[in-house]
Amino acid sequence: MSKTGTGSEIEKSVRFYGRRQGHALRPRRRQLMETVLPRLRIVVPPDQETLDFDRLFGMQKSEYWMEIGFGSGEHIASLAERYPDIGFIGCEPFVNGVAALMSSIEERNLTNIRVFDDDVNKLFASLPDARLQRIYLPYADPWPKTRHHRRRMVQPETLNTFSRMLKDQGEFRFASDHMPYVQWTLAHVTDNPDFKWLAGAADDWRVRPVDSIETRYENKARSRGAKCVYLQFRRVARSM
Ligand SMILES: C[S@@+](CC[C@H](N)C(=O)[O-])C[C@H]1O[C@@H](n2cnc3c(N)ncnc32)[C@H](O)[C@@H]1O
Repeated sequence: MSKTGTGSEIEKSVRFYGRRQGHALRPRRRQLMETVLPRLRIVVPPDQETLDFDRLFGMQKSEYWMEIGFGSGEHIASLAERYPDIGFIGCEPFVNGVAALMSSIEERNLTNIRVFDDDVNKLFASLPDARLQRIYLPYADPWPKTRHHRRRMVQPETLNTFSRMLKDQGEFRFASDHMPYVQWTLAHVTDNPDFKWLAGAADDWRVRPVDSIETRYENKARSRGAKCVYLQFRRVARSM
């Protein structure tokens, strides 16, 4: 299988521009970062070795889903609670967000989430081919200025990486309230022959999929009257 657009290629051209830390963590959250996170943390294996998901979760899960930029983790935690047989891989470099997720994991006794607490671009090269059933990218930073568009998560190389990591018929789900980023994503994904946009009618992109929940950013966007768009793409089956 092609390894075009692997993490190592992307890493060369992309630097992380987001925030790593906000306010100081409260003592309880600081403690969770020291006790819970080390058990759940995904570490990039040495020598470009590929991560074994079954080993990562200590058992074979029915499917593996990934969320990039989980923010405070409400979305990934709710999905993990709703689908205990699925293994969730969450990626988020913002320490306060990771600490918030640790708190949800502990409160709800979730055992099916593993966390990469760094820039997801550093992880891509270690992720296996055709193992993910879903990739979620909810409300990624839109980087509205033209000179910053290279910082957007959706890039041709990243889509090649998503294509490599998704199983046949797997899904890439994107949501945003920033229409230029929505158009950018539609244009780039529909340019990639490995993906098919699943929308048949307007409600398919105007209404949140029934099996997703509102994220914190979506809630903020809606409260200021913004419209949100949900794009679902299917990874087409590989030819034999
Ligand atoms: C606008 S926030 C949205 C958070 C959350 N998805 C939501 O909807 O509430 C975008 C998130 O993506 C994260 N992010 C940005 N670049 C990232 C990267 N390279 N790898 C992983 N996460 C990233 C940011 O730290 C931030 O938490």
